[in-house]
Amino acid sequence: MNRNVKVFLAVEFIFFLVFIVMLSNVYSLINISFNIIFFLMTLLILSNLSEFLNFESSTSTSISLPVLIPAMTLINPLWITVIAFIGTSEIIVGQKKIPWYKFMFNRCMLGIAAGSAALIFKFSLGNITSNIIISLFFSAVVYFIINSSLVYAVIYLSGEKQKISYRVFWSELFKSIFVSYFLGLILYFSYVEFGKLFFLLVIILIYIGRDIFFSRIQLLNSFTQVIESFLKVIDSKDHYTEGHCERVANYTRLLCEIVNIKQNRKEKIVNMAKIHDIGKIYVDDNILKSNELLTKEEFEEMKKHSQYGYELLKDIDMLNDDLEIILYHHEFYNGEGYPKGLKGKEIPFGSRILNISDSFDVMTTGRSYKKALNKEETISEFKRCSGEQFDPDLVEKIIYLIESGELDSSFKKS
Ligand SMILES: [Fe+2]
Ligand SMILES: [Fe+2]
Repeated sequence: MNRNVKVFLAVEFIFFLVFIVMLSNVYSLINISFNIIFFLMTLLILSNLSEFLNFESSTSTSISLPVLIPAMTLINPLWITVIAFIGTSEIIVGQKKIPWYKFMFNRCMLGIAAGSAALIFKFSLGNITSNIIISLFFSAVVYFIINSSLVYAVIYLSGEKQKISYRVFWSELFKSIFVSYFLGLILYFSYVEFGKLFFLLVIILIYIGRDIFFSRIQLLNSFTQVIESFLKVIDSKDHYTEGHCERVANYTRLLCEIVNIKQNRKEKIVNMAKIHDIGKIYVDDNILKSNELLTKEEFEEMKKHSQYGYELLKDIDMLNDDLEIILYHHEFYNGEGYPKGLKGKEIPFGSRILNISDSFDVMTTGRSYKKALNKEETISEFKRCSGEQFDPDLVEKIIYLIESGELDSSFKKS
């Protein structure tokens, strides 16, 4: 830990004490209601549950606001600060060792953020709006701004700032605000309308749902990392197509965006684009690295890569619904492609898009036996093959993208 971070942590701790003293001039800790004990225990149990159940723990920060939202409407800001400070402590020790200064930093940060959020709630209700829901939104925003700014400040001071970009920081911040606020409102209404037992039931459901969701995301991320490692192997085998899959995925994303398909369908097609040539790892190096135009036999072997890719991945449950996109990415609209000779709309939509983005990359990067095409040549090549190799509707889209200048950097590269 460098000197700047030490000073920052000391200042934060002093600020926390001053904050408590200031709040205690206005609010009291003397009356301990059942609500205080209830929310404190709920938060304490939740903060330790992930450790106890051996889940990845990011729980104390992510679930503390939703629990504190209903608490803020019932308990004074001084108690909210204390509840956030104590309630988010991971008291089950032994499995994960957190240095004491990190422990204190997190506690003080959550205390200050929660106390300030509760103050904003009290102030805005009556002064700015008479609506509880809107006041709670203000408090959620304040909570996350304080929380995220302090975390960001420590990362910055510790010299790890290159690891986090402003864009990621703000998008994460907004996502957290809205998700936590939404969950907080659900908990608020559960508590107010149906009582404590129902409130606890909803927390358990949110908790389980959240962990299932995160473990799925984690699984997808690790899977993508494995696939991307495969791609590096393909790239290293075939220097002419270096970066090919990544570029094709980018073009595919642009095409998906202008044909206006649903977000999750778009992600599936783009993911398939990233790995569309994975079957090339089975193709002989001499064919893959050949600088000459391929012979008929060599080309027949090369053509098998879409089938190889499909076979390689078909046993992976998470992917097998989308693998046809890879299998048919060299089918032609007029039925003269491979491996099956599918025609027109028989070819999956994702494969028709992929065929265009794949060909666009080949046209603009060129090969040893074929020079890269410029903008005009690429447009006329797409027009020439429209309805033959390519889906005419999608040809219009790629031409639109080329003419609008969206793909200009691809031409400069060539
Ligand atoms: Fe291919
Ligand atoms: Fe390709």
